[in-house]
Amino acid sequence: MSKPAIQTHELHKSYRLGKTTLQVLRGVSFRVAAGEFVAIVGASGSGKSTLLHLVGLLDRPDKGRVVLDGVKTDKLSAGRRNRLRCEDVGFVFQFYHLLGELKVMENVLLPAQVDTSILAWPKRRTERRARAAEILDGLGLGERLRHRPSELSGGERQRVAIARALMNQPKILLADEPTGNLDSKTGSQIMDVLKRFHTDAGQTIVMVTHDVALAESADRVLHLRDGQLTDA
Ligand SMILES: Nc1ncnc2c1ncn2[C@@H]1O[C@H](COP(=O)(O)OP(=O)(O)OP(=O)(O)O)[C@@H](O)[C@H]1O
Ligand SMILES: [Mg+2]
Repeated sequence: MSKPAIQTHELHKSYRLGKTTLQVLRGVSFRVAAGEFVAIVGASGSGKSTLLHLVGLLDRPDKGRVVLDGVKTDKLSAGRRNRLRCEDVGFVFQFYHLLGELKVMENVLLPAQVDTSILAWPKRRTERRARAAEILDGLGLGERLRHRPSELSGGERQRVAIARALMNQPKILLADEPTGNLDSKTGSQIMDVLKRFHTDAGQTIVMVTHDVALAESADRVLHLRDGQLTDA
């Protein structure tokens, strides 16, 4: 049997604000098989983004462990964690986080640039641009490569963010409220895009949402409540 794409063991996370401590995650353990599409739902403030950031190695838990594709990430140096994040994890943020000064193509190329040494980049640029163009074309953005984010609609921006997240062929795609900022029609188009990558390419996806109806189209829905993650 192949290793789970994601495994977490008893994740605890709190935030300290002055003298008070806010305990957000109280022992979250779950696993996601390779190729699975899991949705995590929960009320605003329940800790969904916090959990996704821990899984994506953007933050560290107070206690507990994240294992990605069999690698115990708590044992890694900061440099190895960064590498693993860069190679294995694609992140789609709720508010796109595209760089306004860069064109669509350049935004999508960024993760590949980060992942390639400066000396190797000129050689690889053509091939990487071709891949970026292919992904963008598949997302209906073939005519938007030279636009800047401010010249795109919300749904188009989110599709650029998805293209960027997929650029390095990550083992895991983490999407934090990818439809949260969009009207319901555009939101369901984004959902269709994610489902297509899941079905056609076997992309492992963990999507956070507070839209229970959207979550239902994932393979499995988990609920975050009172710092614990449970089956729906
Ligand atoms: N850096 C921080 N410092 C202090 N408190 C924080 C920090 N980040 C988040 N919190 C608090 O932790 C709780 C969980 O936040 P989180 O962003 O994970 O919730 P969420 O489930 O993603 O909510 P939403 O659906 O509104 O995005 C919230 O009450 C929030 O105020
Ligand atoms: Mg959130």
